[in-house]
Amino acid sequence: MVAQTLVDHAVEIIRSNDQGTYTVPTHGLYPFQWNWDSALTALGISFFDEERAWTELSTLMDHQWEDGMVPHIVFHKEDEGYFPGPDVWQTSRKVPTSGISQPPVAGFAARKLFERAKDSTVSVQQAKQLLPKIDAWHDWFYRCRDPKRTGLVALIHPWESGRDNSVDWDLAFQRVPTDGVMPFQRRDLQHADASHRPTQAQYERYIYLVQLFRSLNWDNSKLHDASPFQIVDPGFNAILIRSCADLADLADELGETEIAARNRARAEKGARAMETLWSDTHNQYLCFDRRLGKSVDNPSIAGLLAVVAAVPQNRAMQIGARIMELGETCRYLVPSQPATSPHFDGKRYWRGPVWLIVNYLISDGLKRANQIDVAERIISDSLDLIANSGFAEYYDPNTGEPCGGKSFTWTAAMVIEFLTQARAQT
Ligand code: GLC
Repeated sequence: MVAQTLVDHAVEIIRSNDQGTYTVPTHGLYPFQWNWDSALTALGISFFDEERAWTELSTLMDHQWEDGMVPHIVFHKEDEGYFPGPDVWQTSRKVPTSGISQPPVAGFAARKLFERAKDSTVSVQQAKQLLPKIDAWHDWFYRCRDPKRTGLVALIHPWESGRDNSVDWDLAFQRVPTDGVMPFQRRDLQHADASHRPTQAQYERYIYLVQLFRSLNWDNSKLHDASPFQIVDPGFNAILIRSCADLADLADELGETEIAARNRARAEKGARAMETLWSDTHNQYLCFDRRLGKSVDNPSIAGLLAVVAAVPQNRAMQIGARIMELGETCRYLVPSQPATSPHFDGKRYWRGPVWLIVNYLISDGLKRANQIDVAERIISDSLDLIANSGFAEYYDPNTGEPCGGKSFTWTAAMVIEFLTQARAQT
């Protein structure tokens, strides 16, 4: 398929998942608005409708909680086809939402939308409205998920990472009990192959954590310390650091010097603290289990995604080299778990498959660190996957088999980015 056909197809997919003021990730499996899906999708939308792209972000931020948290799902409409729905979360919001967050890419996305805007009146107005909201969200993370002020935030639920069933959580999940978990019926298996999805044992622990937080009335001053699951994820923190840095630049452009200074300080502190997550053994960053006080000995994609923040040049080079090494062990970069790992499962969600959004964020970071060849290899593998296997949720890194949901919105958005933005910059 030639590039133009791919872009046309991507636009068609996004349009078919458009609900007017937000897009669903895909019909059936994910029938609501998801946080980081929306922010990354806005980038793809900006290619054909700038104003609609800003709306995608502003709809999400309209559902921010009073304490600053931006939920990972906004349940705009009722839909029986998803579990766990609003009746399980019970967050008492007018428009129901989940009670946890997701990787904060909104600052990163807003800056890109602003930079590429053709209509500066609309973009100044939209960016000005978003700035204080995104600033409050960043503040919320450091206040509520880093109570000891280490500079790094912890996730209290795997769904917050966006990498639901990563091998990174296996050890911590042994500590999460299942006593008192409500009986439930999963809905995801009606839409996707069970062998591509998390296991029942993992779902029980996901729900245990939801019930625990619900019993604390979703009071974010309590949840971090109460959670048996507290993981510092380098990829997640890098996204937050990058979003703080990008929001600072955007705030400077708009003359909002206080917001700029606050976010720059957060980014600088976070970047210094990131070094504590580096592993010389694995030549990449690792997760840290805050409950155990130990790093998680698993070289997953989280430690490579870290390059999306401005890491020191030697680290960016080491990450680049590590990705090229991974490229020797599987056909398509970047596997979410190394293909040589005993825990690798090429089709099971975040335990091996390639995800285009992660490829996009990694390649963006590598380009900024001047690791152009590695970035280009990632982009070219991503486009091969699309050409061979269509716009799936994720892909087997060995065979390229499309896995999970079909006609996936953010996959389509990333294809537009790769073909119209990322390539144009190099
Ligand atoms: C899955 C993914 C998560 C994503 C969501 C909607 O839960 O792990 O990252 O946001 O689906 O696409």
